[in-house]
Amino acid sequence: MKSLRSILLVSALSLSFLNVSGQAPNDKWLDTDGHFINAHGAGVLFHDGTYYLFGEIKKGKTWLVPNQSWEDYRVPAGGVSCYSSKDLKRWKYEGISLAPVKGQPDNDLDTGRVIERPKVIYNSKTKQFVMWMHIDKKDYSYSRSGVAVSDKPTGPYRYIRSVKPNGQMARDMSVFQDNDEKAYLIYSSENNNTMQVCLLSDDYLSPTKTYSRILINKRREAPALFKNDGKYYLITSLCTGWSPNAAMYAVADNPLGPYKEFGNPCKGSGAETTFEAQSTYVLAVDGKYIFMADRWNKTNLEKSTYLWLPLTVAKDKVEIRGE
Ligand code: DGJ
Repeated sequence: MKSLRSILLVSALSLSFLNVSGQAPNDKWLDTDGHFINAHGAGVLFHDGTYYLFGEIKKGKTWLVPNQSWEDYRVPAGGVSCYSSKDLKRWKYEGISLAPVKGQPDNDLDTGRVIERPKVIYNSKTKQFVMWMHIDKKDYSYSRSGVAVSDKPTGPYRYIRSVKPNGQMARDMSVFQDNDEKAYLIYSSENNNTMQVCLLSDDYLSPTKTYSRILINKRREAPALFKNDGKYYLITSLCTGWSPNAAMYAVADNPLGPYKEFGNPCKGSGAETTFEAQSTYVLAVDGKYIFMADRWNKTNLEKSTYLWLPLTVAKDKVEIRGE
């Protein structure tokens, strides 16, 4: 119900594509076949007039990894789904864009592993679609970024490998493509204490040696980076497992930083828990922005839902208004 109010709010702010017959991110966000959309930790690629939504497929029984000092709930890694839409209202299921593998515990894509926060960008030089994602073991000790490619936006994507950029840990991540076509990997590193931003190679398939440390010792995750009027805005969450917490944003003149930290962009009731959600992506649409977030159901991850809200930037100030 709360989410439905958010849809109406979004509509009032002229992002009317979020308000069609309930076909918007709420508890009953359905694809054009009437099935629940299964795309968590998602990102969106806009290519040739179509939006492509990529996200984690969470399906199956949730279990708690024993002997962890934090709430390490897991569900089988189901690979990465893809949905397409022309209008951000109707989403067509395009299938599994990156399939998991079964019974190969040493394989990065095994269902017993972690495949999270997939993000896809298009490389106009190689004409390849490049997917980056967080790859991990069930205790999150592996801490790597995985990369896959396809010559079609919907896939299937061919998994290449996982890396530790410059030997650094990489957990929650995102990818940002600038107007000059340089692309960056942003990831929680150094045991989640500090984030890093790393310039990708021209083909987007490898990290380069150019990287920076940002939000040092701030323990941030769930990065979502976007650009507005020449400045770079990075929204992150605190690290509290699957439980929601207050978001924070930071602003820079360059994707690599330095970033100046500001407070919580969320305003109104529920702002201190990001309206019970966690950032995953900021989608730019015709000069407006949609803040995309996950509402995790930690003891039944398959039942996790979504929250999309309008995001505004005025005089460097980011605001996400709740319900
Ligand atoms: C919070 C992260 O943002 C999620 O992507 C996931 O890794 C969970 N932590 C695991 O607890």
